[in-house]
Amino acid sequence: MSVRSMEHKDKKVLCIGLVCLDIISVVDKYPEEDTDSRCVSQRWQRGGNASNSCTVLSLLGSSCAFMGSLCAGPVASFILEDFQKLNIDMSLVSEHAQCVTPTSLVISSSSTGSRTILHINRNVPDVTAEDFSKVDLRHFKWIHWEGRNVDEQLKMIQQVARHNAALPLQQRITISVEIEKPREPLYQLFAYGDVVFVSKDVACHLGFQTPQSALEGLRCRVKAGAVLICAWAEKGADALAPDGLLIHSDAFPPERLVDTLGAGDTFNAAVIHKLSNGARLEEALTFGCRVAGGKCGFHGYGGIADMVTG
Ligand code: ADP
Ligand code: FRU
Repeated sequence: MSVRSMEHKDKKVLCIGLVCLDIISVVDKYPEEDTDSRCVSQRWQRGGNASNSCTVLSLLGSSCAFMGSLCAGPVASFILEDFQKLNIDMSLVSEHAQCVTPTSLVISSSSTGSRTILHINRNVPDVTAEDFSKVDLRHFKWIHWEGRNVDEQLKMIQQVARHNAALPLQQRITISVEIEKPREPLYQLFAYGDVVFVSKDVACHLGFQTPQSALEGLRCRVKAGAVLICAWAEKGADALAPDGLLIHSDAFPPERLVDTLGAGDTFNAAVIHKLSNGARLEEALTFGCRVAGGKCGFHGYGGIADMVTG
């Protein structure tokens, strides 16, 4: 189908950010320093916030694309194959043959569900505004940025704003941003998202002790009519609606907490999935908590497919 005749609702969700390799060691109990213990299992998994969110969007039935940087070699092939398996459009991935794939060593403790991440990114460049200027924006209904190289990301967002200005409201691309790391430059993104995800970590760093107080304290940073969402682990998530009302969803804890790696990415994807298909904010927030909570009950993301079909 040509992009001209495509209905807005049938367009894709694009996620821009990191893809990396997660090397996950599952342990019964988190090890003591300087001991030699055995793990229950080890696996490789495609990781990175934007990449994980694509996984979940795809499992939930949203057609999506990933934009980010990939290296060359066997690890990159593993990552590419995994994207393909999940039907995630990778036509916007740029290859940096001379770089080393960013990698996380993750200790995932099945007794608590905790995930301890040791990450390294030696030399992989982030997507630039120039790369982004080559994207045919007509293919997308929603673009999500994982907050990273913020100066470039602000330029990309401005390109989308210019594209949107020429379109009727219902044809416009929704812009969402994730502010996950407590880094001052990322806070510029607050003012640019139609939907802004701010993490508990950032909220705590800014001195807030509850999601409600974070939303009250941060509402002045988002643009008028924007949605601000703050997920708070076992407390669920809260959101500031465009009309200024605060909304809450409780968490949906699994029977047994097994793996919280990527819970936030899962939550973001599930919320985007719902909102980009026209759901109300309350429904999207509850769905986000339901899918993210369920995800904490199994390793990886595969079980999400059963949650939606079962
Ligand atoms: P992350 O640390 O990966 O960014 P969060 O801790 O913010 O993720 O959690 C995101 C969402 O995942 C929460 O809003 C909640 O719905 C779900 N979640 C995370 N941890 C738990 C938990 N221990 N019990 C139930 N739900 C959880
Ligand atoms: C989970 C995650 C992992 C990755 C790490 C990078 O949210 O994206 O997949 O290793 O965070 O910070």
